[in-house]
Amino acid sequence: TFEVIIVFLIAYLIGSIPSGLIIGKVFYGIDIREHGSGNLGGTNTFRTLGKKAGFTVTLADILKGTIAAGVLPIFFDIDIHTVIIGIFAVIGHMYPIFAGFKGGKAVATSAGVVLAFVPVMFAVILVVFFISLLTTKYVSLSSMIAGIAGLIYSIILGDPILIIVIALMTSFIIYRHRTNIKRIVNKTEPKVNLFKKKR
Ligand code: G3P
Repeated sequence: TFEVIIVFLIAYLIGSIPSGLIIGKVFYGIDIREHGSGNLGGTNTFRTLGKKAGFTVTLADILKGTIAAGVLPIFFDIDIHTVIIGIFAVIGHMYPIFAGFKGGKAVATSAGVVLAFVPVMFAVILVVFFISLLTTKYVSLSSMIAGIAGLIYSIILGDPILIIVIALMTSFIIYRHRTNIKRIVNKTEPKVNLFKKKR
């Protein structure tokens, strides 16, 4: 129906809000896409602007997914599995209309969609992410592992629409990490140490 299309569109626009670009430009006068990995995401904000900005951007990007999939449908009378709306927020985050379609790698916003529907799964994915980060020191690899963990979790839950949506989001995550995968193979991907103070 028409309303469903409107909801998808609004979700795309919410996902398109370039939090990393806004916080970088407004508070630091910096386009983070010209620094570090060039990615418009929480990790590159941490890398370029530090902890406070990195955390804020990550949180904002998570909230985009949660609001689009969890809050937005409350205002509309639509007859679909609302987790589907989350896909459009994630597409907006990767290809933001407000930032020349150069966006992020789908990680935080996908996690926000999961948070809206299965908070326990969000918590489990977060734990998997940090265990992986502590052992491998790669944020990118840990993001992909967390995505795969989410997919396995959804298969265990057995809701077919949820499985399809998470499979899509995990595919987006892996696709958007192509250059990271190459760098990991070439051993040029930067590592992070969670316990080391930054400069
Ligand atoms: O959230 C994206 C992260 O997994 C990798 O970011 O900037 O290291 O490519 P980056």
